Parts: sequence; structure tokens; C-alpha cells
Amino acid sequence: MRVLSGMRPSGRLHLGHLYVLERWMELQAEHDCYFFVADWHALSTNYDEAAAVLDLTHDMVADWLAVGLDPERSVLFVQSDVPQHAELHLVFSMFTPLAWLERVPTYKDQIRQLGERGKDLHTYGFLGYPLLQAADILIYRADAVPVGEDQLPHIELCREVARRFNHLYAPVFPEPQGLVATVPLLPGVDGRKMSKSYGNEILLAAEPEEVGRRVNAMITDPARIHKTDPGHPEVCVVHTYHGIYSVPRLAELEESCRGGKIGCVACKKILAETLNRLLDPVRERRREYLARPGYVEEVLAAGAARARAEAAATMEAVREALGWRRQP
Ligand code: TRP
Ligand code: SF4
Repeated sequence: MRVLSGMRPSGRLHLGHLYVLERWMELQAEHDCYFFVADWHALSTNYDEAAAVLDLTHDMVADWLAVGLDPERSVLFVQSDVPQHAELHLVFSMFTPLAWLERVPTYKDQIRQLGERGKDLHTYGFLGYPLLQAADILIYRADAVPVGEDQLPHIELCREVARRFNHLYAPVFPEPQGLVATVPLLPGVDGRKMSKSYGNEILLAAEPEEVGRRVNAMITDPARIHKTDPGHPEVCVVHTYHGIYSVPRLAELEESCRGGKIGCVACKKILAETLNRLLDPVRERRREYLARPGYVEEVLAAGAARARAEAAATMEAVREALGWRRQP
């Protein structure tokens, strides 16, 4: 099975991204995987901050490698290094009805949401965002696409585009499946969704002391003043984390909190240690490749070469299907 997925370049990744990457790593162990940084997609909303995308891309790929994505097993690359994505997008744009793009649920929502923050997204490129995504997937003739649930309408559009192409010209493309895994919702230290824009995240690259500081900043049960006061773990962010990362000790921790037998300081210390154990191998791998200057760029150059070869073969099949193969 061929698997493909992409991420918009968001720079340093946080704990919430770890699930997604762990899923990618499971897939890379068994399938032919392509993972890429969607830098052109970033331009569709951040066209006024284009230059920042370069560092964001580098930092994100550095985190992929630190987490353990393996460039020997998976093809890791940057979208804009493979011009065939854009070429196929152009071909698709010729026969994709505008109505298909206008009815994608995220389209009008995002125009409104980002419009409120002063960003005008009534652009050609933004309307075409899911069509570019379809080209990303189909240029590698991928069978399966691990994505978040919010992306399913984009996968559905991709299937429709594949069907339409196959019907108009010749059967070149598979109809890819979305692979949705349910991931626990990880709150940020303030209890809101973990996000860079809230500044409430714990970065995968955080040093142990920083993890300790972030855990100390977590919102706990406000009714607990003394450590002997009975606690309400259900309102506590620390406890939500224990529920994800400290499963074997969860019942014991919960009982100690309710019975006023553990203080929040001690409870947080346990969590910080658990998170640091989780991040230690990530730090170790990061140290290894930081000792090799230019490593990230090398990985991306090799990945782009492999991706381009595959993408060029698909474009040949596309030309053939269009009836545009010139006789030599
Ligand atoms: N739209 C995806 C997101 O916001 C990123 C993306 C771009 C993608 N192209 C893709 C995901 C192709 C999967 C396949 O998360
Ligand atoms: Fe939260 Fe732990 Fe304090 Fe209970 S003891 S309120 S679970 S930090």
C-alpha cells in the first residue's frame, strides 16, 4: 500500500503533534510512505509572510527526524521541490467545477474566521487549496492518506477528482482512502487547545527544565489551597495528562488527589518526569543529527529526488491519458 501525508510548515512541533507522528511511524514500518511539508499550502493563507516559511519548514523536518521518522524507509520532502504537484494541480483545475470547491465546508468558515483577523482569503489559490491537496496525493497515486477528521472533505474531493479524470481520459488514478485515527484531545497548559497561537504548548524540543516549568504552569483544581484539601482531578489539566501518559498509575494518583494525600507540587513533579522520559529518546536523536551539519538539507534533497522520479512517471501517464504523447 502506498501512503502519503503532508503537514503545513508550522515550525517547532509540540506534544499534540506526537500522536500524528507516531501514527506515521507505524505506517512507515509497513508501507511505502511519502511524507512532505506543504509549503505551497502555507502560502495560500500566509502569502504576506512567504520568507518565514523556509525556517518553519526546516524546524518541522528537524522535529520529524528527532521523533524517529526514518528517511531510509519513508520519502521525506518539501512540496515545492517537486514542481509536478503544481503541474497536476493545473490539469485538474481545467475540469473541476467551481461548485465542488465552494462547497468544501472549511472554505467559507476559514474565509470568515481569518477575515475577522484582517486577512482577505478571496483568492484563487485559497479556493484551490483542496485541489492542490488532491494533486499532492494523486501525483504519487497514493492509496491511503492519514489525516485528521477535519480533512475528510478534502479526501472526498480528491476521490471525485480522480474519478472525473479517469472517466474523461483513462484510468490513471486510484481513489485514495482517508485513514482517520482518533487521537486524544491534548489541552495546553492553560486548559485550552494546545496551539502555538495561544503560547500554551509543550515543545518536543523543550529541555527537561522547560518541561518542568510548563508543567508547573498547568491549571490545577482552584479549590485546593492546602495539600490536605480534597481535590477534584476532573477539573485539572495535570490530571488530563496523567490520563494519557501515566495510565498505570492513574487510579492511584486520582485517589491520592481526592483524598488530599498528595500535593499538586508532587503530582506535577511526577508528570514532568513522565514527560521527560517520553522526550528523552527524541532529545537523544536530535543530538545525534545536530552533530551532522546540513543533515536536514541532505535528507530533503534525497527525498525530493525520489519524489520527483515518481511524480514524473505519473505526469507521463497523465500526458498519455490526455493523448498528448508525441511520437518520436
Ligand atoms: N491540508 C492538510 C492540513 O492542513 C495538509 C496537506 C496538504 C495534506 N496536502 C496534503 C495532508 C496531502 C494530506 C495529504 O493538515
Ligand atoms: Fe491536579 Fe494532581 Fe493537584 Fe489533583 S493533586 S489537583 S490531579 S495537580
